[in-house]
Amino acid sequence: MRRKLIVVSNRGPVSYGRGSDGSRTAKRGGGGLVTALRSLVQYHDVTWIASAITEEDRALAGEAVDETSRDGSPYRLRLVAHDRQAYDWYYNVVANPMLWFVQHSLWDLPYTPRVDAAFHHAWAEGYVAVNESFAATVDAELARTPDAAVFFHDYHLYLAPRMVRERRPDAALMHFVHVPWPQPDYWRVLPREARRAIHDGLMANDVVGLHTERWRRNFIYSVRELLGDDATAKTVTAPISVDSTEFVELARSEAVLSAEQEILTGRPEKLVVRVDRTDPSKNIVRGFRAFELYLDAHPDMHRRVGMLALLDPSRQEIPEYAEYLGAIQREARRVNDRFQQSGWRPIELEIADDFPKSVAAYKQFDVLLVNAIFDGMNLVAKEAPIVNERDGVVVLSENAGAHAELGEWALTVNPFDVDGQAAAIERALAMETGERHERLEAIRAHVREHDLSRWTDVLLAALDRVAAPTRS
Ligand code: G6P
Repeated sequence: MRRKLIVVSNRGPVSYGRGSDGSRTAKRGGGGLVTALRSLVQYHDVTWIASAITEEDRALAGEAVDETSRDGSPYRLRLVAHDRQAYDWYYNVVANPMLWFVQHSLWDLPYTPRVDAAFHHAWAEGYVAVNESFAATVDAELARTPDAAVFFHDYHLYLAPRMVRERRPDAALMHFVHVPWPQPDYWRVLPREARRAIHDGLMANDVVGLHTERWRRNFIYSVRELLGDDATAKTVTAPISVDSTEFVELARSEAVLSAEQEILTGRPEKLVVRVDRTDPSKNIVRGFRAFELYLDAHPDMHRRVGMLALLDPSRQEIPEYAEYLGAIQREARRVNDRFQQSGWRPIELEIADDFPKSVAAYKQFDVLLVNAIFDGMNLVAKEAPIVNERDGVVVLSENAGAHAELGEWALTVNPFDVDGQAAAIERALAMETGERHERLEAIRAHVREHDLSRWTDVLLAALDRVAAPTRS
């Protein structure tokens, strides 16, 4: 059934710019969340509220833009131009280092983080303020379509549901958390008011969705510990998926075919691929170290195997992320300097936002390395097998949400164990074709069957169950 939905996420499905001839250009938003959510507009009547990020976005903010998705489905896009300073505090101080690091267990607690006056200020004047500006926009959209359900996304927007609920006690509100939920004690890194406001804000929703039972259990536990409430009835486990048809079509597109030619020219016999944002949670440095250990143990494979790392530079105004990108470059350089010979560089590192090339690499991998420290889902692990043409093997971190679904057909690794990762690369490269084929087909079948429409249906059914009785 088609529904009226107000989708709210920090990053929108497109971001606008200006071409050299002065005409308006539209670029797809980066990251897994937006890739997956973009197909929602095929099934429902969507108004999408997101932050204005570029100057061109800001010029379009205020009024809704009539947009169409790749497949021609129409939707309304409403960009919100937040106060610039407030947005900087919200995105670059609170959401992406602090909350992201808490939820992916990335802080090095003897030294970081330091919760000082600057953080308290960024919380009040940035995170609270931007959530308030989202809440006001949602309220205005609800005035226009009071029967629409509001669907919030992710850690940028934890406070907005409570703010909307105060204005509209009867609204149907749902929130999906795309990142892991850590155990309650880790939330105690944050000051009491902040961690309580986060949990209380989420509890203002009728439904809170998480990717796995593991994150859901932690959420219920942390609501009980930090608020004394019971979140069981309003939480639902719903693993997000990808649009298989879209990836199959993309795989045949001109842009992907030409990127694939680049990969084919000079590819070694065996290719290990990783595709990530340059995010500390993705564990890229340890991945290079593991590949180095594999090369150390297998001189016979020198010149015959290579790693292609396609990395989208992410959140570079935040020192922790900029430093991590430096660490990635240093580690790749170190490994390459040890082994490279004329005509062979073991690690090809490309720091760019190049979606067609990523899809081309998905087609060409023999081994896909997904060794995240923690990851809510990890959609690369679902996207790449869909289009792979080499019976490639997925090496998958036990701490990625995708592992709960795909673990039995992947080779499981502990993200901290570099020896174990080297052994998994070795096993994957040595695996017989028959076994590789079976594993890959099983992953594909699972992803096709557990598709995006199933994900939305599970969430909307939960919303109908929980929200309807309280409103009638
Ligand atoms: C992850 C988050 C998303 C985010 C994406 C890209 O997938 O769960 O909320 O949009 O990363 O990050 P960015 O900061 O560029 O939006």
